[in-house]
Amino acid sequence: MGNVYVFDHPLIQHKMAILRDKNTGTKDFRELTKEISMMMTYEATRNLPLKDVEIETPIRKAKVRMLKGEDIAIVPILRAGLGMVEGMQAIVPNAKVGHIGVYRDPDTHKPIEYYCKLPSDIASRQVFVVDPMLATGGSAAASIDFIKERGGKNIIFMCLIAAPEGIEFLQNRHPDVDIFIAAKDSHLNEHAYIVPGLGDAGDRLFGTK
Ligand code: PRP
Ligand code: URA
Repeated sequence: MGNVYVFDHPLIQHKMAILRDKNTGTKDFRELTKEISMMMTYEATRNLPLKDVEIETPIRKAKVRMLKGEDIAIVPILRAGLGMVEGMQAIVPNAKVGHIGVYRDPDTHKPIEYYCKLPSDIASRQVFVVDPMLATGGSAAASIDFIKERGGKNIIFMCLIAAPEGIEFLQNRHPDVDIFIAAKDSHLNEHAYIVPGLGDAGDRLFGTK
Protein backbone atom coordinates (compact mmCIF):
# COMPACT_ATOMS: atom_id res chain seq x y z
CA MET A 1 0.00 0.00 0.00
CA GLY A 2 1.29 3.48 -0.88
CA ASN A 3 2.14 5.91 1.91
CA VAL A 4 0.14 9.04 2.63
CA TYR A 5 2.12 12.11 3.72
CA VAL A 6 0.24 15.07 5.19
CA PHE A 7 2.33 18.25 5.28
CA ASP A 8 1.74 19.95 8.60
CA HIS A 9 4.38 22.67 8.11
CA PRO A 10 3.05 25.90 9.68
CA LEU A 11 3.65 27.95 6.52
CA ILE A 12 1.68 25.47 4.42
CA GLN A 13 -1.17 25.34 6.93
CA HIS A 14 -1.28 29.15 7.14
CA LYS A 15 -1.43 29.56 3.36
CA MET A 16 -4.02 26.79 3.10
CA ALA A 17 -6.25 28.68 5.56
CA ILE A 18 -6.23 31.77 3.33
CA LEU A 19 -6.70 29.66 0.19
CA ARG A 20 -9.84 28.03 1.59
CA ASP A 21 -11.46 31.34 2.59
CA LYS A 22 -14.37 32.14 0.27
CA ASN A 23 -13.32 35.81 0.26
CA THR A 24 -9.93 35.03 -1.30
CA GLY A 25 -10.04 36.23 -4.91
CA THR A 26 -8.62 34.64 -8.06
CA LYS A 27 -5.29 36.49 -8.04
CA ASP A 28 -4.44 35.53 -4.46
CA PHE A 29 -5.83 32.00 -4.95
CA ARG A 30 -3.48 31.49 -7.90
CA GLU A 31 -0.49 32.91 -6.03
CA LEU A 32 -1.16 30.79 -2.92
CA THR A 33 -1.58 27.62 -5.00
CA LYS A 34 1.79 28.34 -6.58
CA GLU A 35 3.51 28.98 -3.24
CA ILE A 36 2.04 25.93 -1.50
CA SER A 37 2.93 23.71 -4.47
CA MET A 38 6.51 24.97 -4.34
CA MET A 39 6.83 24.15 -0.64
CA MET A 40 5.22 20.73 -1.09
CA THR A 41 7.62 19.90 -3.91
CA TYR A 42 10.56 20.73 -1.67
CA GLU A 43 9.30 18.10 0.79
CA ALA A 44 8.11 15.55 -1.77
CA THR A 45 11.50 15.42 -3.51
CA ARG A 46 13.26 14.65 -0.22
CA ASN A 47 13.95 11.03 -1.20
CA LEU A 48 15.29 11.59 -4.71
CA PRO A 49 18.53 9.59 -5.05
CA LEU A 50 21.89 11.36 -4.94
CA LYS A 51 25.29 10.45 -6.30
CA ASP A 52 28.82 11.43 -5.16
CA VAL A 53 30.52 13.90 -7.46
CA GLU A 54 33.91 15.65 -7.33
CA ILE A 55 33.94 19.37 -8.13
CA GLU A 56 36.48 22.13 -7.64
CA THR A 57 35.66 25.18 -5.53
CA PRO A 58 37.89 28.29 -5.74
CA ILE A 59 39.65 26.86 -2.67
CA ARG A 60 40.18 23.15 -3.46
CA LYS A 61 38.66 19.95 -4.83
CA ALA A 62 35.60 18.74 -2.92
CA LYS A 63 33.40 15.66 -2.88
CA VAL A 64 29.76 16.78 -3.04
CA ARG A 65 26.39 15.19 -3.74
CA MET A 66 24.17 15.85 -6.73
CA LEU A 67 20.92 14.39 -8.04
CA LYS A 68 21.53 11.00 -9.60
CA GLY A 69 19.98 12.14 -12.85
CA GLU A 70 16.54 10.82 -12.06
CA ASP A 71 14.47 13.00 -14.34
CA ILE A 72 11.12 14.33 -13.28
CA ALA A 73 7.85 14.71 -15.16
CA ILE A 74 5.09 16.92 -13.77
CA VAL A 75 1.65 15.87 -15.03
CA PRO A 76 -1.15 18.27 -14.05
CA ILE A 77 -4.72 17.05 -14.38
CA LEU A 78 -6.52 19.77 -16.38
CA ARG A 79 -7.70 22.24 -15.57
CA ALA A 80 -7.01 22.85 -11.89
CA GLY A 81 -3.72 20.92 -11.82
CA LEU A 82 -2.23 23.65 -14.03
CA GLY A 83 -2.23 25.97 -11.03
CA MET A 84 0.37 23.80 -9.30
CA VAL A 85 2.88 23.59 -12.16
CA GLU A 86 4.61 26.97 -11.93
CA GLY A 87 5.50 26.57 -8.25
CA MET A 88 6.88 23.09 -8.90
CA GLN A 89 8.97 24.29 -11.83
CA ALA A 90 10.54 26.89 -9.56
CA ILE A 91 12.06 23.99 -7.58
CA VAL A 92 12.68 21.54 -10.47
CA PRO A 93 13.18 23.74 -13.54
CA ASN A 94 14.33 20.87 -15.77
CA ALA A 95 11.20 18.78 -15.26
CA LYS A 96 9.20 18.01 -18.38
CA VAL A 97 5.47 18.70 -18.22
CA GLY A 98 2.78 16.38 -19.56
CA HIS A 99 -0.94 17.12 -19.54
CA ILE A 100 -4.00 14.98 -18.90
CA GLY A 101 -7.45 16.39 -19.49
CA VAL A 102 -10.10 14.84 -17.27
CA TYR A 103 -13.35 16.31 -16.00
CA ARG A 104 -16.02 14.90 -13.72
CA ASP A 105 -19.40 14.25 -15.27
CA PRO A 106 -21.64 16.54 -13.19
CA ASP A 107 -24.31 13.84 -12.75
CA THR A 108 -22.37 10.62 -12.35
CA HIS A 109 -19.18 12.24 -10.92
CA LYS A 110 -17.25 9.74 -13.06
CA PRO A 111 -14.07 10.97 -14.81
CA ILE A 112 -14.10 11.60 -18.56
CA GLU A 113 -10.76 11.85 -20.41
CA TYR A 114 -10.48 14.44 -23.19
CA TYR A 115 -6.72 15.00 -23.59
CA CYS A 116 -3.42 13.23 -22.93
CA LYS A 117 0.07 14.34 -23.98
CA LEU A 118 3.03 12.98 -22.02
CA PRO A 119 6.81 13.21 -22.42
CA SER A 120 7.93 10.37 -24.74
CA ASP A 121 10.37 9.10 -22.09
CA ILE A 122 7.74 8.99 -19.35
CA ALA A 123 8.76 5.39 -18.49
CA SER A 124 12.14 6.50 -17.16
CA ARG A 125 10.95 9.55 -15.23
CA GLN A 126 9.78 10.11 -11.68
CA VAL A 127 6.23 11.25 -12.39
CA PHE A 128 4.38 13.77 -10.18
CA VAL A 129 0.66 13.73 -11.00
CA VAL A 130 -0.81 16.93 -9.56
CA ASP A 131 -4.31 18.25 -8.92
CA PRO A 132 -5.41 20.50 -6.05
CA MET A 133 -8.37 18.26 -5.14
CA LEU A 134 -8.69 14.52 -4.45
CA ALA A 135 -12.43 14.04 -3.91
CA THR A 136 -13.85 10.65 -4.99
CA GLY A 137 -10.41 9.82 -6.40
CA GLY A 138 -11.89 8.98 -9.80
CA SER A 139 -9.96 11.64 -11.76
CA ALA A 140 -6.62 10.81 -10.14
CA ALA A 141 -7.04 7.04 -10.52
CA ALA A 142 -8.07 7.35 -14.19
CA SER A 143 -5.18 9.73 -14.92
CA ILE A 144 -2.69 7.31 -13.37
CA ASP A 145 -4.25 4.49 -15.45
CA PHE A 146 -3.49 6.52 -18.61
CA ILE A 147 0.09 7.19 -17.51
CA LYS A 148 0.71 3.52 -16.71
CA GLU A 149 -0.81 2.48 -20.07
CA ARG A 150 1.82 4.73 -21.69
CA GLY A 151 4.69 3.21 -19.69
CA GLY A 152 4.86 5.38 -16.56
CA LYS A 153 6.11 3.43 -13.53
CA ASN A 154 7.39 5.63 -10.70
CA ILE A 155 4.38 7.73 -9.88
CA ILE A 156 3.62 10.10 -6.99
CA PHE A 157 0.29 11.89 -6.57
CA MET A 158 0.31 15.36 -5.00
CA CYS A 159 -2.71 17.47 -4.10
CA LEU A 160 -3.68 20.26 -1.73
CA ILE A 161 -6.84 18.82 -0.17
CA ALA A 162 -7.90 15.16 -0.02
CA ALA A 163 -11.08 13.52 1.24
CA PRO A 164 -10.69 10.21 3.10
CA GLU A 165 -12.89 8.58 0.41
CA GLY A 166 -10.50 9.68 -2.35
CA ILE A 167 -7.42 8.52 -0.48
CA GLU A 168 -8.93 5.07 0.08
CA PHE A 169 -10.08 4.78 -3.55
CA LEU A 170 -6.70 5.82 -4.96
CA GLN A 171 -4.79 3.53 -2.60
CA ASN A 172 -6.93 0.56 -3.65
CA ARG A 173 -6.64 1.31 -7.38
CA HIS A 174 -2.92 2.19 -7.30
CA PRO A 175 -1.27 0.72 -4.20
CA ASP A 176 2.19 1.54 -5.60
CA VAL A 177 1.55 5.30 -5.61
CA ASP A 178 2.53 7.51 -2.65
CA ILE A 179 0.15 10.39 -1.93
CA PHE A 180 1.34 13.81 -0.72
CA ILE A 181 -1.31 16.18 0.63
CA ALA A 182 -1.40 19.55 2.41
CA ALA A 183 -4.64 18.77 4.27
CA LYS A 184 -6.93 15.79 4.86
CA ASP A 185 -10.52 16.95 5.18
CA SER A 186 -13.65 15.47 6.75
CA HIS A 187 -15.80 13.91 4.01
CA LEU A 188 -17.61 14.42 0.68
CA ASN A 189 -21.03 16.05 0.45
CA GLU A 190 -23.93 14.80 -1.70
CA HIS A 191 -22.40 16.53 -4.77
CA ALA A 192 -19.04 14.80 -4.17
CA TYR A 193 -17.47 18.10 -3.07
CA ILE A 194 -14.91 18.05 -0.27
CA VAL A 195 -16.11 19.31 3.14
CA PRO A 196 -14.97 21.84 4.26
CA GLY A 197 -12.68 21.95 1.19
CA LEU A 198 -12.33 25.16 -0.80
CA GLY A 199 -15.11 24.84 -3.38
CA ASP A 200 -14.36 24.32 -7.06
CA ALA A 201 -10.60 24.63 -7.49
CA GLY A 202 -10.71 25.14 -11.28
CA ASP A 203 -13.31 27.88 -11.05
CA ARG A 204 -11.46 29.67 -8.25
CA LEU A 205 -8.13 29.50 -10.13
CA PHE A 206 -9.46 30.69 -13.46
CA GLY A 207 -12.38 32.88 -12.35
CA THR A 208 -14.95 30.93 -14.33
CA LYS A 209 -17.71 31.21 -11.75
C1 PRP B 1 -11.92 18.72 -10.12
C2 PRP B 1 -10.53 18.63 -9.53
C3 PRP B 1 -10.15 17.20 -9.80
C4 PRP B 1 -11.46 16.48 -9.65
C5 PRP B 1 -11.49 15.80 -8.31
O1 PRP B 1 -11.86 18.85 -11.49
O2 PRP B 1 -9.63 19.56 -10.07
O3 PRP B 1 -9.62 16.98 -11.11
O4 PRP B 1 -12.50 17.47 -9.73
O5 PRP B 1 -12.63 15.07 -8.16
P1 PRP B 1 -12.65 13.47 -8.09
O6 PRP B 1 -11.55 13.09 -7.12
O7 PRP B 1 -14.00 13.16 -7.55
O8 PRP B 1 -12.43 12.91 -9.45
P2 PRP B 1 -13.18 19.13 -12.39
O9 PRP B 1 -13.79 17.86 -12.84
O10 PRP B 1 -14.06 20.08 -11.66
O11 PRP B 1 -12.54 19.78 -13.68
P3 PRP B 1 -11.80 21.19 -13.84
O12 PRP B 1 -10.44 21.08 -13.16
O13 PRP B 1 -11.68 21.35 -15.31
O14 PRP B 1 -12.64 22.25 -13.20
N1 URA C 1 -13.43 19.23 -7.34
C1 URA C 1 -13.24 20.44 -6.76
O1 URA C 1 -12.74 21.38 -7.40
N2 URA C 1 -13.61 20.59 -5.47
C2 URA C 1 -14.13 19.59 -4.75
O2 URA C 1 -14.43 19.79 -3.56
C3 URA C 1 -14.32 18.34 -5.37
C4 URA C 1 -13.96 18.19 -6.67
